[in-house]
Amino acid sequence: MAEYVEIFEVGPRDGLQNEKRMIPTSEKVALVDCLSGAGFKRIEIASFVSPKWVPQMADSAEVLAGITRAPGVSYAALTPNMQGLERALAAKADEVAIFGSASEGFSKANINATIAESLNRFRPVAETAKAAGIPVRGYISCVTDCPYDGPVDPQAVARVAAELDAMGCYEISLGDSIGQGTPESIGAMLDAVLTVVPAQRLAGHYHDTAGRALANIEVSLEKGLRVFDAAVGGLGGCPFAPGAEGNVATELVNARLIELGYTTGLNAEILETAGAMALAMRGK
Ligand code: HMG
Ligand code: MG
Repeated sequence: MAEYVEIFEVGPRDGLQNEKRMIPTSEKVALVDCLSGAGFKRIEIASFVSPKWVPQMADSAEVLAGITRAPGVSYAALTPNMQGLERALAAKADEVAIFGSASEGFSKANINATIAESLNRFRPVAETAKAAGIPVRGYISCVTDCPYDGPVDPQAVARVAAELDAMGCYEISLGDSIGQGTPESIGAMLDAVLTVVPAQRLAGHYHDTAGRALANIEVSLEKGLRVFDAAVGGLGGCPFAPGAEGNVATELVNARLIELGYTTGLNAEILETAGAMALAMRGK
């Protein structure tokens, strides 16, 4: 039987957070409801960050309240601090994610904290979430390249991964935030991270700015990773990472994984429909 690889759909969060047009909540809910029938186990749909920093995500609680929850699907939210966690718990997110960076420049630009400050901020978030029975995922941005600091030392990624692991993150998602990673730099980064966290608890989160995300997924598969984040329609980008284009498109990752002989459990027709919806939401 073909081996299962999971695609974690992040389009409704990473795909839409950077959109300039204020997308009506009803459109976001319709997209999530469509995605809920596609076979995903996890969909990231909310971000409880400052609405001043990311206005597009200000209606995250309304999105969580408006969707029809499909059984067996975990609806995830970003939570940068305790205030975010409290909002996520009130909105009944099924799981939350803390998100740090391997580079100081991006950490400061994205969450207004040094790496050390951010880790201190995350600790109570992780503890409180776990005490409430909510799984916590960890993200590390800029795992190979930073738009402010340039190339990133693989050991810096491993250090942050070890910290997030010690906080009890059930999985750590490795973000090539600006899509500048190559199979070589992603491979070297994974070699370092794998010395501290096993492949079964790592995910690849690759933006596709330079068109290398699929090649980077392939090298990650060789290193044992079996979870990849992607966004329908290839939407995405981070407002604080200049040059960050879309996430790799879910449809492309799904097709490539199947070509490589894996199974994903996803319905390609629903993915196409959701991809078209997502692009229409951005006026594309
Ligand atoms: P700060 O300004 O340092 O926070 O922002 P603060 O604690 O000093 O608070 C300032 C104000 O923000 C206060 O309001 C707080 O109440 C409010 P005021 O008194 O001025 O009216 N505030 C909040 N409001 C709502 N929810 C909250 C919250 N926290 C504070 N949770 C903060 C620090 C982290 C909040 C800010 O920098 C922020 O929101 N940043 C947004 C970062 C973001 O969303 N980035 C995009 C997602 S990450 C990403 O895309 C990368 C990823 O995809 C992986 C990859 O690709 O690499 C995950
Ligand atoms: Mg991202």
